[in-house]
Amino acid sequence: MVFRSLAILIAALALVIAACAPGGGAGAGDANRGRTVFEQKGCPTCHALSSVPSATGTIGPPLNGIGATAANRKPGTAAADYIRESETSPNAFVVDGFPSPSSMIPFAGSDQELSDLVAFLLTQ
Ligand code: HEC
Repeated sequence: MVFRSLAILIAALALVIAACAPGGGAGAGDANRGRTVFEQKGCPTCHALSSVPSATGTIGPPLNGIGATAANRKPGTAAADYIRESETSPNAFVVDGFPSPSSMIPFAGSDQELSDLVAFLLTQ
C-alpha cells in the first residue's frame, strides 16, 4: 500500500518535471531560428544589422547592439520586453529622430516566431 502511493507520487513528480523542462515549451525563443525569421519577415528592408549581410535598410535605426540598447530605452522595461513591444506595437515607443507615428510595419507571425526573433535580437 505504501509502495503503491509512493509509485503514484513519483509518477506525478515525473510529470511535473517533464512539464517544466526548458526548451520545448511555447515561448522559449531560439536565436538561430530567430535569425531566419528576421530575414524572412522583411526586417532587413528597413534595418541594418551587420551579422545579417542582407540587412542594409536605412528607414529604421540600425539594430547593431540592440540587446544592450533595448535595456535602456524605457526605464523599468527589460530588454526582451522592449524588443517584443517594438515588434508588435511600434508606436508604444518611437525612437528619437524617427517620424511619429512610426513607419515600422508591426510583426506578423506566430508567437513562437516572435519569441525566436526576440531571442535572436537579444544576442545582437
Ligand atoms: C517599413 C520599415 C520597417 C520594417 C519592415 C521593420 N521596421 Fe523596425 N523600425 C522601423 C522604424 C522607422 C523604427 C523607428 C521608429 C520606432 O521606434 O518605431 C523601427 C524600430 C525598431 C526597433 C526599435 C529599435 C531601437 O533602437 O529601439 C526594433 C527592435 C525593430 N524596429 C525591429 C524590427 C524587426 C524585428 C522587424 C521585422 C519583423 C522590423 N523592425 C521591421 C522601421 C521598420
